[in-house]
Amino acid sequence: MSKYFMGVDTSTTASKALVVDEQGNVMVVKGNPHELSTPRPLWSEQDPENWWQAASKSIREVVEVVGAENIAAIGLTGQMHGLTSLDKDGKPVRPAILWNDQRSSPQCASVTEKVGAKKVYQIVGTRLLAGFTAPKILWVHENEPENYARIAHVLLPKDYIRFRLSGAFVCDVADASGFGCMDVGNRTWSDEMLAAFDIPRAILPDLCESQEVSAYVNEAGAAATGLKVGTPIVGGAGDQPASGVGNGIVSKNLASLTVGTSGVAYAFNSQYAPEPDGRLHTFCGPIPGTWFHMGVMLSAAGGLRWLHDELTPDLSYDDLNKQAESVPRGSLGLLFAPYLTGERNPHPDPFARGAFVGLTLRHGLSHMIRSVMEGVSFGMRDQLELLRSLGANPSEAVIAGGLVNSPIWLQLTTDIMGIPLYTVNTGESSAFGAAILAVVGSGTYADVPTACANMIRRENTIQPDSQGAAEYERLYPSFQALYPALKDTYAALAQFDA
Ligand code: XUL
Repeated sequence: MSKYFMGVDTSTTASKALVVDEQGNVMVVKGNPHELSTPRPLWSEQDPENWWQAASKSIREVVEVVGAENIAAIGLTGQMHGLTSLDKDGKPVRPAILWNDQRSSPQCASVTEKVGAKKVYQIVGTRLLAGFTAPKILWVHENEPENYARIAHVLLPKDYIRFRLSGAFVCDVADASGFGCMDVGNRTWSDEMLAAFDIPRAILPDLCESQEVSAYVNEAGAAATGLKVGTPIVGGAGDQPASGVGNGIVSKNLASLTVGTSGVAYAFNSQYAPEPDGRLHTFCGPIPGTWFHMGVMLSAAGGLRWLHDELTPDLSYDDLNKQAESVPRGSLGLLFAPYLTGERNPHPDPFARGAFVGLTLRHGLSHMIRSVMEGVSFGMRDQLELLRSLGANPSEAVIAGGLVNSPIWLQLTTDIMGIPLYTVNTGESSAFGAAILAVVGSGTYADVPTACANMIRRENTIQPDSQGAAEYERLYPSFQALYPALKDTYAALAQFDA
């Protein structure tokens, strides 16, 4: 009997395949990298063929270890929002336009004006952002009419892998929410938003739930990967909702904070309750009849990497930790605004920038290091406050991402959040979450929460230090005042730069 389940993650940097058993033991993980191209400022593109080469190779490598006959089902995940446009023969019309591509701001503005901002937030569960898929379709329509005329299908990155494995044009509702043209409350495409974006329904994929079997591996998919013809493929989910499953955020009052290159705060909701001003994303959840809220910081641990690479390339990250430990909480009154690549939530502003505020002659490199860590964690606190404003009230939260490797950063983050944080056993949380969805799709467990209870284990819990929490609580309002104070300067600097 088949006993293993595969998660395939097509991220921005690599495609990975991971295999687990039904107890959540990871049997094998393989990954192969992708190229990224930025042909113009604000643009970010990848060749879908590159994803397929990396994903099919990774799948073949894991199949060689565990045996194709032992794979009961596959779940897909990957970078969200990327516009993958195909012609009538299934060939890419142009390179995919990715989640971090900023070219379609004018299209977001025009559609928001046409439909009305409040109505947009209510239908799609968020403000329209340049990273989303539908504004990019409109951008291609307006700027590359000859390409637009050839588009027969649009897919998201992980769904291109499904298409190559099975021939099916399908997307799950959790990832499809990131198009920006779904009626998220009703889990279907929105006729009103499609009309506003001038997108024909016929080019969009069919929708399914994340745990639902959506397609089966066909002859071509099997030949490229070594998988068995007929292996079921469940809907899967975008990297953030899949990671939500992989971190076990599958019932009320659970939340996670993932601090990697970007920072994401994620909470579960059993009802559709979008933020009235669209200040964070409310999307269909990867469990039928549920939704999730998500706040995204575009530059999180990426801020410390910037400081390291630009100012201290000869120091190790351990050295940075030691230096941060050597200065008091609050870095002697030095604050860092972490918006190095613009910001999404709660300040949707592509022109927001980084800043050190409060520098004096007393400050040195160690204060700057600690202040970057603190600024990023205050930014994550902003995300947590947005979740709280929607009624999410986590008494503790999962912490994940590269930050967990720094004990000092982990402690000060826990103090800034003021609630206990804990880690779980699922390092590759998106691929692991996709594999959990495959377990449920295969009927092994009755539902996603039951699968999570059997497959995810809690590891370390970090408690807030009462004095640390009190000191950071006193400093937090000063951090919150930074963006409003600097907003006009950011706009003026962007004009100067142009
Ligand atoms: C989510 C988002 C990113 C991408 C890439 O809205 O834009 O998480 O999915 O990881």
